[in-house]
Amino acid sequence: MNYRHAFHAGNFADCMKHALLVWMLRALARKSAPFRVLDTHAGAGAYDLGSEEARRGGEWQAGVGRLLDIVEGPLADYAALVREAGAPASYPGSPALVGALLRPEDRLVCVELHPGEHAALRARFRARFRADPRVAVHRRDAWEALRALTPFPERRGLVLMDPPFEQPGEFERLSAGLSLVSRRFRGAVQAAWYPIKHRAPVRAFHASVEAAGLRDVVAAELWLREPTDPARLNGCGLLVANPPWGFEAEARGILSALLGRLDGGETGQGWAITRIAEE
Ligand SMILES: C[S@@+](CC[C@H](N)C(=O)[O-])C[C@H]1O[C@@H](n2cnc3c(N)ncnc32)[C@H](O)[C@@H]1O
Repeated sequence: MNYRHAFHAGNFADCMKHALLVWMLRALARKSAPFRVLDTHAGAGAYDLGSEEARRGGEWQAGVGRLLDIVEGPLADYAALVREAGAPASYPGSPALVGALLRPEDRLVCVELHPGEHAALRARFRARFRADPRVAVHRRDAWEALRALTPFPERRGLVLMDPPFEQPGEFERLSAGLSLVSRRFRGAVQAAWYPIKHRAPVRAFHASVEAAGLRDVVAAELWLREPTDPARLNGCGLLVANPPWGFEAEARGILSALLGRLDGGETGQGWAITRIAEE
């Protein structure tokens, strides 16, 4: 396990994933019934943007660094949460963003396998949510956890799968994970992040999700240049199964606003909301 998110925290891919995640959590909180979030690849929870890793990668300046002054429009809620969490000194990971949006009755379960990232997340949550019964942090394998920790006792909530794509077979594991949860936990909102380097593996992933029989699936995608170079992270996608009501319209606004800000001047950039499976 070589992947360290500290090099990439706050980059365009985090901005896209987290802005959509924040909107979905707000949508879940519109109903009074409690929800749970299972974050299967949780990472360290927060990242120092002045660290050697963040400075070496330099990715956040071209990502969240361009969004921090936003106070209105589709990105305002996300930008405010990121500022409240300490940006530009530090950037909140998915566990910190979810933690900030939990109501007293909601729950967050974080799963992280890397010993160092797990220890950092645990320490952070111990300091922030001391003896808080709403938050649990596990050191275990994501794919095993999906089986062990679903369905949720609350019968509603969101599963976020955000693998590092450092090993071959990640698209296949993601597709199998989505399929497993859809069988075990029908109502779950599932959000799965994936890289767009070139189109062929993404098309195969969408086809496998459709072939697995998942219903009501939408892919939100953003790319900063024509995705033709398989060696570069040209764009990324968030595949959402069972999206909260209104997701497609809201995601259009979020992606369009993001591309407006993150435009690096390269040719062939764009975004899309694509329905992969009907309800
Ligand atoms: C892209 S990062 C997660 C970022 C985080 N979700 C966020 O949005 O802030 C992926 C994380 O998955 C962890 N990881 C990799 N393989 C895993 C596995 N099989 N089970 C659990 N965690 C894993 C890595 O150590 C890394 O911290």
